[in-house]
Amino acid sequence: MAHLESRKHISPDSGFPVTLHPAFNPKIKNHVPPEPLREPFVPDKDRASFADPEKKALFSVARRVDLTESLGTLLENVQLSQLNEQQLDELALLVAERGVLFFRNQDLTTEQQVKLFEHYGVLDKHPAQKDQRHVIIRGSTENHREIGKYTPWPSGEWHADTSFEINPPSYSMLRMEEHPPVGGDTAWASTSNVSQYGLYDALSDAMKRFVDGLHAVHTSRYQYDTILDLWGVGPNRPPIDTHHPAVRTHPVTGLKALNVNTGFVAGFAELNKTESDKLLDFFAYHLHSADDHYVRWKWEVGSVAMWDNRCSVHRVIPGQYKQPRRGIRTTVFGEKPFLDPQSESRNQRLEREQKQQESESATDSKAGTGVADVAA
Ligand SMILES: [Fe+2]
Repeated sequence: MAHLESRKHISPDSGFPVTLHPAFNPKIKNHVPPEPLREPFVPDKDRASFADPEKKALFSVARRVDLTESLGTLLENVQLSQLNEQQLDELALLVAERGVLFFRNQDLTTEQQVKLFEHYGVLDKHPAQKDQRHVIIRGSTENHREIGKYTPWPSGEWHADTSFEINPPSYSMLRMEEHPPVGGDTAWASTSNVSQYGLYDALSDAMKRFVDGLHAVHTSRYQYDTILDLWGVGPNRPPIDTHHPAVRTHPVTGLKALNVNTGFVAGFAELNKTESDKLLDFFAYHLHSADDHYVRWKWEVGSVAMWDNRCSVHRVIPGQYKQPRRGIRTTVFGEKPFLDPQSESRNQRLEREQKQQESESATDSKAGTGVADVAA
């Protein structure tokens, strides 16, 4: 709050700025990002594609406790620092299938976390990140409803990490080094996974077809303005607006996932402004009423979460705690989001497989009758 210089420049009765006009805040106007925009690239094949589907190496040590039907699994009896490459591949596959994995009492150091995450690809550098290899996450004790009057980025909202990038992150890992005894939880919601249907399958078929044809405008513009003012740090790169498919195909599970979040999506490229605003309103409701696709995690020092940004969204629950909260996050770049028109949602896949099974068992029983006739 103390850093919100805009408050001095906006009259309380002048209405809310949709975007912050540079003249309101000289910090925004005067900032020259030191780095250019990032170039698109094709990352190496996802490590999860190399995993044993049964994950025998991982489950030879780890005990699995699913926290909800939809997403979120606690892995017990395992130290991330001890996993070999085969187990790390299986870990990635389990993350892709369950959205987010949790661990307690980990002995992982920052160095080890960075090294572990390099197994999954090229490490991301957050626009506000000083260290090339990790970013420090502190949580939020701001009244995010109140600061929304003065600054455009909804910082407490649902998001997939830096989803505005041309190559948005695939996997993220957050390890907590300092944490208050209560407050500062993080929540995840499933946009699609193999365990239970997520936010994409929760749409009607007609809505699915409509959204399949749209591109969501993921922007860093709001965050750019806000972090300059609220966090007092200069973003490394200029703001970017990227049109990503509103529904994307997960490269490992092959499933369609909703690719809309309220933290970074400003609208839909194919729609008029009013249509776009109303649809975004609907998705805000869809995300915030997703209790059946939701898990909330209470952190302790030494807790770790690893999630897949392509099939889940998350948000920190704002609070008023006084003790420090400090986590180390590592993230790797994923593929440029794509929609394979042949891909299915999780429920569509189940229905197809069920029909296939039914027709196979019908054929079998016919064949069976034939054999019985002969035998008789
Ligand atoms: Fe995040």
